[in-house]
Amino acid sequence: MHVAIIMDGNGRWASLRHLPRSAGHHAGAKAVSAAVEAALRHGITTLTLYAFSAANWSRPGAEVSALFALLRRHLLTQTQRCLDESIRINVIGRRDRLPADLCQSIERSEQATAHCRGMRLRIAVDYSSQHSLVEACRRLQSEPDVDRARFAERLADVDHATAPAPEVDLLIRTGGEQRLSDFLLWECAYAELLFVDCLWPDFDQPAFQHALEAYGQRERRFGRVVADTLARANHG
Ligand code: IPE
Ligand code: IPE
Ligand code: MG
Repeated sequence: MHVAIIMDGNGRWASLRHLPRSAGHHAGAKAVSAAVEAALRHGITTLTLYAFSAANWSRPGAEVSALFALLRRHLLTQTQRCLDESIRINVIGRRDRLPADLCQSIERSEQATAHCRGMRLRIAVDYSSQHSLVEACRRLQSEPDVDRARFAERLADVDHATAPAPEVDLLIRTGGEQRLSDFLLWECAYAELLFVDCLWPDFDQPAFQHALEAYGQRERRFGRVVADTLARANHG
């Protein structure tokens, strides 16, 4: 099962406490650890977290730097834990605009956990789905007979993904907004969408479990008519 999360609401969490936005991002980083733990416990095979969108470059420079510093620290401190739990780290998104020290940390964490065969932890940084889709199309221009599998491979290359991601089963967005903000538009073609009001720093392990329970209540039909509806219609 692939769960993707738009981790939104750090700024509002901080404002509610009369703290600077950076304090919200610090609290948000702790919530990342809780989500990874919960995903592991529930046997999620791929977890994709939206950490920094391409659109987030339009935030104040100090906030962007603080977010990158946090991400770098998170990679430095969490890689050993990922090794212990056999979690493979993969940062998806553009690399050409990231600071060199962050790129180095990303590469180090990816290399160190490349052999891990447990959960895949994908972190989206400088990510824009529309950018990735256009770039994948551009790279496919000279290739004949492109099918979905080939397209997904190209998309993975563009995103620096170690492999094409499985389709997203459940997309969670915290913070109450009901939009995708340019996240995994191809991969979420048939995802169940769950928008929760909880602000990201408050999204703890029980909240993750509630989200999975809500997902469990959904009926995924993929365009079909479900068997018992069909039986009732035919007999009644
Ligand atoms: C999500 O929280 C973190 C990032 C986008 C990097 P926000 O910073 O967007 O928090 P709000 O939405 O302003 O509360
Ligand atoms: C989406 O949150 C991006 C991340 C969580 C990294 P934003 O707060 O940037 O999105 P908008 O501005 O509400 O669409
Ligand atoms: Mg936001």
